Amino acid sequence: MKEKKTRNLIRALRGERLKSPPIWLMRQAGRYLPEYRAVRAKAGGFLDLCYTPDFATEVTLQPIRRYGFDAAIIFSDILVIPHGLGQAVWFEEGEGPKLEALSGPGDLAKLSRASVEDKLAPVYAAIRATRAALPEETALIGFCGAPFTLASYMIEGGSSRDFFKIKQWAYGHPDSFRRLIDLLVEACIDHLDRQAEAGCEVVQIFDSWAGVLPEEQLFRWSVQPMHAIAKGLKARRPDLPIIVFPRGVGPAALMYRRLQEFDALSIDTAIGAHWAAEQLQPHIAVQGNLDPAMLVTGGEAMAHETKRILGKLASGRHIFNLGHGIVPQTPPDNVARLVEIVREWSTR
Ligand code: CP3
Repeated sequence: MKEKKTRNLIRALRGERLKSPPIWLMRQAGRYLPEYRAVRAKAGGFLDLCYTPDFATEVTLQPIRRYGFDAAIIFSDILVIPHGLGQAVWFEEGEGPKLEALSGPGDLAKLSRASVEDKLAPVYAAIRATRAALPEETALIGFCGAPFTLASYMIEGGSSRDFFKIKQWAYGHPDSFRRLIDLLVEACIDHLDRQAEAGCEVVQIFDSWAGVLPEEQLFRWSVQPMHAIAKGLKARRPDLPIIVFPRGVGPAALMYRRLQEFDALSIDTAIGAHWAAEQLQPHIAVQGNLDPAMLVTGGEAMAHETKRILGKLASGRHIFNLGHGIVPQTPPDNVARLVEIVREWSTR
């Protein structure tokens, strides 16, 4: 039997030291790529793109063909869970996501886990097709939004500036808010489990809006629910690595570092690489954290900043990534240069 080589991303997550860290980028498939815009135009709506396996597979593979990243992330969106639970979700051109907002505890009865699996079947079909088409050395990442971030879209009805509605609900009516969060924890465990079943060998949980919560609320509504997801998932799949991304939490990142069910902590640009190397890396692998704006700038400035980050983090457990997703203004050639710089790095 042919022996299967362990993929670099998995080796790094297990704590192996590699010559240079594995690299993939959040939102590596997206509007900065002309070939993505072409498929997007053919698909029509954004959700049609997510739910048509041929299209989702194609756009997942595009950045791998161009750049040979160490990992692909399945093309989908965090909002497929609210959609699967029965909430209306749509995308307005230039405005981002819109949802039919939950207005209070009475609306919780409208949500049901009963048909999530059927509704999200195209996502699992895309994962199977993508895994079959990916190069042997490329890992495939599945993902979901963390309960607090999902709840923010579900309650605010879309992106929010002040998170006023969700905070009024969470702070004023924590018991019914807990019911919503618990429902989302269960839905996330199921969705990640089914993504792993279909062929994802690593998963990432995005808590994009964790940073708006003060410390004690952060523990209740971000750390705890993400940990509950990780525990539930590891009970089913002990070997599945889990990356968590609590964006914007600053030094409260310390709350996530010792939980043994978390394998890596993705950090945004507000966290210093030096601090992360000292405070986080001894406990957990660190993923990050080039500023997406530097990837737009390119040239010497990008090279310098990339090497600074590598100098601080690459000799420990490190996965190279951005501090947040690639923005549409990014010149594709800068991405190619970034991959070269990271691959030329040597910790030996
Ligand atoms: O390449 C990848 O990273 C995989 C695909 C992916 C998308 N969304 C595709 C997408 C992933 C992992 C996400 C996660 C996601 N979606 C998050 C968490 C990460 C983060 O950015 O904080 C959030 C908050 C969402 C919700 C969402 N979806 C928003 C706010 C938007 C609008 C933003 C925008 O750039 O217009 C989306 C749409 C979306 N999801 C796009 C992509 C490529 C842009 C859609 C387009 O083509 O017009």
